[in-house]
Amino acid sequence: MAVSTRMALLLTLCVLGCCVFAPSLAAPGDFLQCLSSSVPSERVFTPSSPSFTSVLVSSIRNPKFFTPTTVRPLCIVTPTNASHVQAAVLCGRRHDVRVRVRSGGHDYEGLSYRSERPEVFAVVDLANLRAVRVDRVAATAWVDSGATVGELYYAVAKAAPGLAFPAGVCSTMGLGGHFSGGGMGMMMRKYGLSIDNVLDATLVDANGRLLDKEAMGSDLFWAIRGGGGGNFGAVLSWKIRLVPVPSTVTFSNIQKTIDQGAASAVTKWQTLAPALPEALSIRVIVQNQQALFQTLYLGGCSALVRAMSSLFPELGMTRADCREMSWLQSTVYINSGDIKTPVETLLNRTTSLSTFTKNKSDYVKQAITKDTWDKIFPWFNGSAAGLMILEPHGGRVGSIADADTPYPHRSGVLYNIQYVAFWTGNGTDGPDWISGLYNFMEPFVSKSPRGAYVNYRDLDIGENTVVGGVTSYDSGKVWGESYFGGNFERLAITKGKVDAGDYFRNEQSVPPLLSRK
Ligand SMILES: Cc1cc2nc3c(=O)[nH]c(=O)nc-3n(C[C@H](O)[C@H](O)[C@H](O)COP(=O)(O)OP(=O)(O)OC[C@H]3O[C@@H](n4cnc5c(N)ncnc54)[C@H](O)[C@@H]3O)c2cc1C
Ligand SMILES: *[C@@H]1O[C@H](CO)[C@@H](O)[C@H](O)[C@H]1NC(C)=O
Ligand SMILES: *[C@@H]1O[C@H](CO)[C@@H](O)[C@H](O)[C@H]1NC(C)=O
Ligand SMILES: *[C@@H]1O[C@H](CO)[C@@H](O)[C@H](O)[C@H]1NC(C)=O
Ligand SMILES: *[C@@H]1O[C@H](CO)[C@@H](O)[C@H](O)[C@H]1NC(C)=O
Ligand SMILES: *[C@@H]1O[C@H](CO)[C@@H](O)[C@H](O)[C@H]1NC(C)=O
Repeated sequence: MAVSTRMALLLTLCVLGCCVFAPSLAAPGDFLQCLSSSVPSERVFTPSSPSFTSVLVSSIRNPKFFTPTTVRPLCIVTPTNASHVQAAVLCGRRHDVRVRVRSGGHDYEGLSYRSERPEVFAVVDLANLRAVRVDRVAATAWVDSGATVGELYYAVAKAAPGLAFPAGVCSTMGLGGHFSGGGMGMMMRKYGLSIDNVLDATLVDANGRLLDKEAMGSDLFWAIRGGGGGNFGAVLSWKIRLVPVPSTVTFSNIQKTIDQGAASAVTKWQTLAPALPEALSIRVIVQNQQALFQTLYLGGCSALVRAMSSLFPELGMTRADCREMSWLQSTVYINSGDIKTPVETLLNRTTSLSTFTKNKSDYVKQAITKDTWDKIFPWFNGSAAGLMILEPHGGRVGSIADADTPYPHRSGVLYNIQYVAFWTGNGTDGPDWISGLYNFMEPFVSKSPRGAYVNYRDLDIGENTVVGGVTSYDSGKVWGESYFGGNFERLAITKGKVDAGDYFRNEQSVPPLLSRK
C-alpha cells in the first residue's frame, strides 16, 4: 500500500473516532487482513466489535488508564494457540504495527494495553492461554502466562497438597507480567522470587519463532527471568519448580499505633526481619499513623509465638494472634483477613475499576533511624489517603548473586518499600502527596542509582526517547539502572541480539545496545 493511501486510511480511522495521530507508516488495514489469514475472526476485536470495550476493560485495574483520551489499541487479539501469537507478531512486523502483550493487565502504568503517546498498536491478550499442568512426582509445573497467581496457587495446592509456589500477594495478577519482573511474595525469604524457581519457558520472539530455553540461549533465558515484561517477546509458558510447605502454616496480623510504639517497632523490624529464620516472614503496612505487622510462618502457632517472644517481644504476640491454616488459605487470608473466605476466591479473575492509584518504590540498605520514622509516620496521617508496604529481603532472595538474574536488589538489601497513593473522583493526576513523600525519603533509601522494582512500574523515573528508529540507550539507562542496576547493560546487549529493530517497544522498554559504548 502506498504511503499516501496509508495516511488516508489513518485519517479515516481518526474521523471514525480512533484518534491516533501517529507519524508512523503503520498499515492497520493490511495488518488486520494479514491476521485474518491465520487467526479466527472471533479472536480479533476491533473498535467496531460490540465487545471491544468489555474485552479491553476486562483486566484493567486502574481507571486512570480507561478515560476518553486514553490511547487505545487498534485491535485486541485473544489467542487460543501459540500460532495466533506468532501470526500477530509476524503481521505486526510486516505492517509496522507493534504489539503489546497483556497477561493479567496489572501493569502500574497500563503499558500492556494503552500507550502514553499517540501510536498504532495491537494488544495480544493471553487470558485464554492459562493452563496449569502440575507434575506432582517431579514437583514441577508448566504454567501459561495468562493464568493468574490465584489460579496457580489453587491448581498447585489441589493437585499436589504439600507443594506451593513463591509469588505475589494479589491473586488476579497475570503470571506473564509478574514473572517477567521478578515476583515478590511472602515466601521469598525461604524460596526466593518467582523467577528464582523458573526452570524453562517458551517465548515467541520478534521474528515470530516459538523458542524454549535451549533454543533461546542463555542470555535470553536469563533476561526473561526478571528483565521486565514487554521487552524480549511474548513468553507463553513457564516451567516452574514447586516448593514444599507444611500442611499447617500460621498467619498473624498485629497492629500498633504510634502511641503503642509503632515507630520503634518498625525501627527494630528493619534489621530483624531480613535476618529472621527463613520460614518466618513479617511485612509491614504503614497507614493512618499505625503499623500493621503481617506474619507468615511456615509452621505452627506454638513455635511462632515462642520465636516471636524471644526475637520480637515488642509485638507482644500471643496465641490469640495466631491463625493456623493451610498455605492455600493463607494466600486468601492475607487479603481478606477472614478465615471463612473460600479458597475458590482465588479463581475469580474479575477486577474492579474502582480507585485511582499511583505507586512508587524504593529499596533500603541502611536502617532508618527512629527519629526519622517519627517524621515518616505523620505522612500517613489519614488526611492524605496513602500507605506504604515494607517487604523484607534477606534469606534466599538476598543470597542469590546480584547478576544471576536481572533483579539486582539482593545483597545488602534490607527491604523494599512500596508507596501507594489512592484517591477517588476522576482526576488522573491525584494529589502531590506521593511525590512529596518520595522526595522526603530520598536521603534514607538506596542511591546511585536510587533503586526501584520493575514490577512496580513508575514512569516518573524516566521514559524512553526514540532516536533513529530505535530506543536510545542513554534514555533507557535513566530508569533502567534503577530497576536493574549493573544488569541493565547486559539486558540491553541481549535486546540488541534478539530484537535489534526494537519491535517490542514501549515507554519503558529495554533499548537495543548494538555495540558496547
Ligand atoms: C493489586 C496488585 C498487587 C500486586 N502485588 C504484587 C506482589 O505482591 N508482588 C509483586 O512482585 N508484584 C505485585 N504487583 C505487581 C505485578 O507483579 C506487576 O504489575 C506485574 O507486571 C503484573 O503482571 P500482569 O501480567 O498482570 O500485567 P500486564 O499488565 O499484563 O503486563 C505487565 C508488563 O509485562 C508485559 N507482559 C505481560 N505479559 C507478558 C508475557 N507473557 N510475556 C512478555 N511480556 C509480558 C506487558 O506488556 C507489560 O509491559 C501487584 C500489582 C497489583 C495491581
Ligand atoms: C495449536 O495449533 C497447532 C498447529 O496448528 C496444533 O497442532 C495444536 O494442537 C494447537 N494447540 C491447541 C492447544 O489448540
Ligand atoms: C498500587 O498497589 C496497590 C496495593 O498493592 C494496588 O492495589 C494498586 O492497584 C497499585 N496501583 C496500580 C496503579 O496498579
Ligand atoms: C469476583 O470479584 C469481583 C470483584 O472483586 C466481585 O465483584 C464479584 O462478586 C466476585 N465474584 C464472585 C463469584 O465471587
Ligand atoms: C497531614 O499531613 C499533611 C502532609 O502530608 C499535612 O499537610 C497535614 O497538615 C497533616 N494533617 C494533620 C492533621 O497532621
Ligand atoms: C469529572 O467528573 C465531573 C462530574 O462528574 C465531570 O463534569 C467532568 O467532566 C469529569 N472530568 C473528566 C476529565 O472526566
